[in-house]
Amino acid sequence: MTKSASLTFGDKTVELPVRSPTAGPDVLDIRKLYGELDVFTYDPGFTSTASCDSSITYIDGDVGELLHRGYPIEQLAEQSCFLELCYLLLYGELPSPEEMDKFRTTVTRHTMVHEQMHNFFRGFRRDAHPMATMVGVVGAMSAFYHDSTDISDPWQREVAAFRLIAKLPTIAAMAYKYSIGQPFVYPRNDLDYASNFLHMCFSVPAETYEVNPILSKAMDRIMMLHADHEQNASTSTVRLAGSSGANPFACIAAGIACLWGPAHGGANQACLEMLREIGTVDRIPEYIEKAKNKDDPFRLMGFGHRVYKNFDPRAKVMKESADEVLELMGIHNNPTLQVAKELERIALEDDYFISKKLYPNVDFYSGIILDAMGFPTSMFTPIFALSRTVGWISQWKEMISDPALKIGRPRQLYTGPAKRDYVDLAKR
Ligand code: ACO
Repeated sequence: MTKSASLTFGDKTVELPVRSPTAGPDVLDIRKLYGELDVFTYDPGFTSTASCDSSITYIDGDVGELLHRGYPIEQLAEQSCFLELCYLLLYGELPSPEEMDKFRTTVTRHTMVHEQMHNFFRGFRRDAHPMATMVGVVGAMSAFYHDSTDISDPWQREVAAFRLIAKLPTIAAMAYKYSIGQPFVYPRNDLDYASNFLHMCFSVPAETYEVNPILSKAMDRIMMLHADHEQNASTSTVRLAGSSGANPFACIAAGIACLWGPAHGGANQACLEMLREIGTVDRIPEYIEKAKNKDDPFRLMGFGHRVYKNFDPRAKVMKESADEVLELMGIHNNPTLQVAKELERIALEDDYFISKKLYPNVDFYSGIILDAMGFPTSMFTPIFALSRTVGWISQWKEMISDPALKIGRPRQLYTGPAKRDYVDLAKR
């Protein structure tokens, strides 16, 4: 039986169709509301609004579940790898061995950037934040790769997706090398995706650099855990930018800009900086009180999530990886780690955090791992960005191939002055 909901406003009633998803709550289709009742809905922050159909990722925030194309993130993180997850997000199914081989080869063959891009990088100030450089360079990809910007051509869309997934690690590593004054390191096609990224970040021409397999596995996991997260702020930004027909490189640059904010991807940098600022375990109560104080804008970074009102499932996997990496690096009594562990323990027992369902999110642990690997805090968000690129481009491709695509154009509740007449300058 098809469900519907009736809504009465004034003397008119409208019957709204109800759509049932594969999982999650039913959705009221309000598209004819304005036409029939002459009212808008009001939902700043989109807390109750589904902005699109999507078959890529599902989150159940109450139980703390994350599924990509139906597969739980815990199983993927344990048994799969980042490139296989990329295939799954892009094409909807796990690849056969032949499909995986072909996909890996294609991505690997696109890892180098246009040589002219090296000069483009050199136009930035050395002390620029790597995210600032990335927003600029990824946006500029449409100037370097304009043969894959015709969004009406499915093949060009495919090539753009490969280029973005393959080149983002190269661009992030170049942004890092540039900021520390070291030479750019070219990608190595004999290395897997995560090892290649670590090699481009940490090797120098003067020495041989062997990538440690434990670090490479941890890097691969970090990438997997950040790969997609349905209609979050940056993904919605990519979709909104793309809805006007903008090219994929411009759209992903918009996503990177949105991700940079401390309430979103910038939280991993902000979290580690906060742990360092707290400094010692005895100062934790002071910061917990600050977080609880309504008059203080301070928030515990790495805690809370718009959708998860339970443990972020990615945080659980990330915590395991943190233990492995710290063990490998021989880091046991690091003060930042001690503060993190104690802060987590206290917050999880505190009424304020319990009642508001504020649990550690993925960013609480990722910064600890990246720090142990040797990345500066400024590289945390670029690593998130390169990992999320596959999610953004999968969502963008899904949107572009939807025949019902419409430009995204929200309405507003106008609170400005009513119509009034202009007063001549001399009379004011
Ligand atoms: N510390 C202290 N209080 C918090 C925190 C926090 N980290 N997060 C939420 N709260 C409180 C709010 O003050 C609010 O209290 P109130 O109801 O008394 O006003 C209540 O919890 C609900 O918070 P909202 O801001 O309304 O929740 P929203 O869903 O809009 O925000 C967000 C989610 C932005 C993630 C928020 O929890 C936050 O700022 N966290 C810190 C930043 C962070 O870690 N971001 C990473 C998100 S995950 C990611 O992007 C991968």
